[in-house]
Amino acid sequence: MKLDRLIAKHRQMGRTAALRAIAARRVRVDGIAVADGHAEVDRFSAVMLDEEPVQVAERGLYLIMHKPVGLLSATKDAQHATVLDWIDDPDKHTLHLAGRLDRNTSGLLILTNDGNWSKRLMAADFKVPKVYRVETDVPVPAEAVAAFERGFYFHTEDITTLPAKLEVLGECLARVTLHEGRYHQVKRMFHRVGCRVAALHRESVGTLRLPEDLKPGEWRPMTEEEKAAALCGDDRSS
Ligand code: URA
Repeated sequence: MKLDRLIAKHRQMGRTAALRAIAARRVRVDGIAVADGHAEVDRFSAVMLDEEPVQVAERGLYLIMHKPVGLLSATKDAQHATVLDWIDDPDKHTLHLAGRLDRNTSGLLILTNDGNWSKRLMAADFKVPKVYRVETDVPVPAEAVAAFERGFYFHTEDITTLPAKLEVLGECLARVTLHEGRYHQVKRMFHRVGCRVAALHRESVGTLRLPEDLKPGEWRPMTEEEKAAALCGDDRSS
């Protein structure tokens, strides 16, 4: 929301009056005087007018987890334990998943309560790369590399997958980089080239790699550097 709109809403004043107060440097966002009435603020910003709180900042949560195989990547489920059950934080009920992993997939999972941030992470147009290590039941055919680059048409969604980078690392071992997250996407793409995925592990999102010291089932808050790295669209291929 624009700063002038937030001030106007919470202080029952017109937007012109709010703009004037902002221009007069009577407004602070996170402790800093802001003169631009059109600056964007969200619920995680502390906003003061004349040293009186207009909005108290909510606590932003950005967590990283090493999801183990077998744990459901959901926030609630009637039958099974979910990743949220493994998180110990008083505000965990505010969390959502920034990109799910299948139950039998392991690796880097991100949880947050910041919807704008997670939207950027997951939206195909931001081109944030997600890298998976894949074990297959049979050797990956050589022509799969070009097929992944061309994309596959998925009839159910009526879409063609964005170009994906496939690196064959061994007979039945590969690494794939996607810039989107369709339902069972990796498994469906490998199925198209005649392979069944035997094991799937997400290694990284953006330039954020799953930290080696984070064991399966462990989680912790992300550092500011990790938050920035997760959003980084810096593909390994470049
Ligand atoms: N693609 C899949 O098929 N499964 C996952 O868990 C993630 C990507």
